[in-house]
Amino acid sequence: MNQLLDRNETKMKEVFHYPVMHREIIELLDIKNKKIIVDCTAGLGSHALKIAEIIQPDSYYIGIDKDEETLKIVNDKLTKTNIKFSLVKGNFSDVDGILKKLGISKADVFLFDLGISMYQLTDPERGFSFMKEGPLDMRMDRESFISAYDLVNNLSEFELENIFRKFGEEKYARRVAHVLVEKRREEPISSTTQLTKVILSAMPHTVFKYKIHPATRIFQALRIAVNRELEALKAGIEKAINLLSSGGRIGVISFHSLEDRIVKHTFKEFDSRGILKILTKKPITPGKEELVENIASRSGKLRVAEKI
Ligand SMILES: C[S@@+](CC[C@H](N)C(=O)[O-])C[C@H]1O[C@@H](n2cnc3c(N)ncnc32)[C@H](O)[C@@H]1O
Repeated sequence: MNQLLDRNETKMKEVFHYPVMHREIIELLDIKNKKIIVDCTAGLGSHALKIAEIIQPDSYYIGIDKDEETLKIVNDKLTKTNIKFSLVKGNFSDVDGILKKLGISKADVFLFDLGISMYQLTDPERGFSFMKEGPLDMRMDRESFISAYDLVNNLSEFELENIFRKFGEEKYARRVAHVLVEKRREEPISSTTQLTKVILSAMPHTVFKYKIHPATRIFQALRIAVNRELEALKAGIEKAINLLSSGGRIGVISFHSLEDRIVKHTFKEFDSRGILKILTKKPITPGKEELVENIASRSGKLRVAEKI
């Protein structure tokens, strides 16, 4: 435990997570005038700190994250402010149960900032990065049972191909799945760099001309499958919409088309039922100022809606 805390303290100093589209979030979610704010992806608390700067003294911030390690960091940050807050380790797909336990039946804001934090991405031990040698893990919640190792070494070729195609939209899904299954017969694929090598060996040389690293889509696909991200997203935003107070707002920042599609369709469905009013006809993207500050925001898309 002490070792974990020491490691956390060192990393806290090193890792900064830019609060993507924080100006837009503050404005479009009308944070200043809202009382109960639920941040479903507290991460490293960067949005939380921006929220803490402007909320009213009687407002209440609730931060949820699957990752206990990062919640400790948020706790350290927020105790230095004077806002009223609670932090809960949990899946945002259980947001109804989480709020019920806190005695809350309705909230005025729900924020989702999807994906992983810089803390998770830059720690080789978490296995999210194809650039750094680490175990093939990719679990956001380190208490969950299935890791990327389990999927890569146990699923059938067909199942792997499906994951790569569905969650990575990977053109070479079949080739990669085939080579992976051949290679794992020799020895289990247990590290990130070992997997990257296998992926590269399965792809034609032309992929090196791509703007993104050729392993990006396969890693994304595995991460989505390990953490069941898309199911959680659909359940999470549907529940959040139901829990919103009248006039309350929901904002979702997504980073790839699979996520954005779910947000767009779910908002549309609730809008057509007269439950929600979409405030962003097209998704908001980061402005020039933000891209200078943080180029990693470039794929972010923000959609906001208001409960009727
Ligand atoms: C991009 S980061 C959020 C960063 C945060 N907004 C900040 O400003 O520091 C995404 C976070 O969401 C968490 N997360 C992803 N899916 C989740 C889920 N289904 N339930 C709870 N937390 C989730 C991840 O563990 C990660 O910490």
